[in-house]
Amino acid sequence: MTEKRVTFASKIGIVAAAAGSAVGLGNIWRFPSQTADSGGALFILVYIGCILFFGIPLMMSEFIIGRGSRANSAGAFHKLAPGTQWKWVGRLGVLTGFVIMGFYMVVCGWTLDYMFQSLTGNLHKVTDYTANFNSLIGNPLRQTGWMILFTMLSSFFIISGVKKGIEQSSKIMMPILFLLLIILALRSLFLEGSSAGLLFLFRPDPTHLKPTLFLDAMGQAFFSLSIGMGCMITYGSYFNKNTNLTQTALQVSFLDSLVAILAGIIIFPSAFALTNNPDVITQELVAGGPGLLFITLPELFNQMPLSFFWGSLFFCLLALAALTSTISLMEVVTLYIHEEYHLPRKKSTLLVTVGVILLGIGSSFSSDFFNLMDLASAKVMLPLGGLFISLFVGWYLDRRLVIAQVTNEGSVKLGVTFLKVYIFLLRYIAPLAILAIFIYGLVG
Ligand code: TRP
Repeated sequence: MTEKRVTFASKIGIVAAAAGSAVGLGNIWRFPSQTADSGGALFILVYIGCILFFGIPLMMSEFIIGRGSRANSAGAFHKLAPGTQWKWVGRLGVLTGFVIMGFYMVVCGWTLDYMFQSLTGNLHKVTDYTANFNSLIGNPLRQTGWMILFTMLSSFFIISGVKKGIEQSSKIMMPILFLLLIILALRSLFLEGSSAGLLFLFRPDPTHLKPTLFLDAMGQAFFSLSIGMGCMITYGSYFNKNTNLTQTALQVSFLDSLVAILAGIIIFPSAFALTNNPDVITQELVAGGPGLLFITLPELFNQMPLSFFWGSLFFCLLALAALTSTISLMEVVTLYIHEEYHLPRKKSTLLVTVGVILLGIGSSFSSDFFNLMDLASAKVMLPLGGLFISLFVGWYLDRRLVIAQVTNEGSVKLGVTFLKVYIFLLRYIAPLAILAIFIYGLVG
């Protein structure tokens, strides 16, 4: 049944697809609002630490599990550890995928709404940006409509197949988005008064230390890298035998972090520069709130010549970046149903679509439900999944299989020290750090 699986066609396609999954609203919407919430630079430091010490090793581990088994995220554990309970890790991942989509699709809907506002020119007539955003999130039906539209758009790509859908769209939009972010970052930096925002981003302030900061940063790292639920297992299962797993994990993580930091450099300097009262802005920032991106950016566009063009381009690309992420999430859950329950791909997609829409309606109508889905996935389910994945590859899997995957049966030359560091991070650092942060975050 799994013998005739397709694989991604080209090397650039592999990186683009995995980066397309990782780069999304997590970087451009969630990262700034979490950073604001946690007081800035200190959060970013811990976040980068999480990426280096267990994010990258975990992404490699998911690739190993995926390509080592060529199966969906639950089937992978079946194949590599037959007759054991490890399959529950895969199943937990499938559930996590549902939970993430249950709120993520709503934010995707916001991007569509803003894209529409932008294209019709209405966004550029707005004078009260906060009120404009609040009128959207105060209107459950409007949110539901966009959310359903976005979910159906993703399912269209899932049905149309792996290569055409995911690979092509990622390859084209990622570089354009990247370029646009650089332009916007430059614009933001040249606003008068922007330096306060840069300081907020890059000068750690110990008074901002909160007990939950570590858990917040870890959750954001997992969420942004798309790890801990089997997404990279599923994508790894499409890699070809020459894909260099280490290099891919490094490239994807680097790109992902770069986009998040760029988003920060766009949002914070302009947020600080565009209000004349720094006290108000600090309060608003620290209160965080999901609106940061949707409130600050339209104001930034309206400071630029051709605001209609920049605004429309940005929200179109943002929706596309979100789409490549939802495709990856949906793929995990759909492939699981397709392969484990032997339902046709179309039927599986339909089932998933209905489930996600139901959860999305919950999140549109209740911000408590929305926050619960966000919190449960990023701060509980993903770290838990990551913990088990590190234990699985570090302790359970045959070391020869791990090394054969990392070195492509010996054809990729990696230093012994590198492999030792990788295994050490996976066996000891990742599980202990995840556990420690988890417990500290819950107690604190
Ligand atoms: N990483 C994506 C983002 O930053 C979201 C995402 C896609 C994700 N697939 C995932 C998050 C798997 C966690 C797990 O927007």
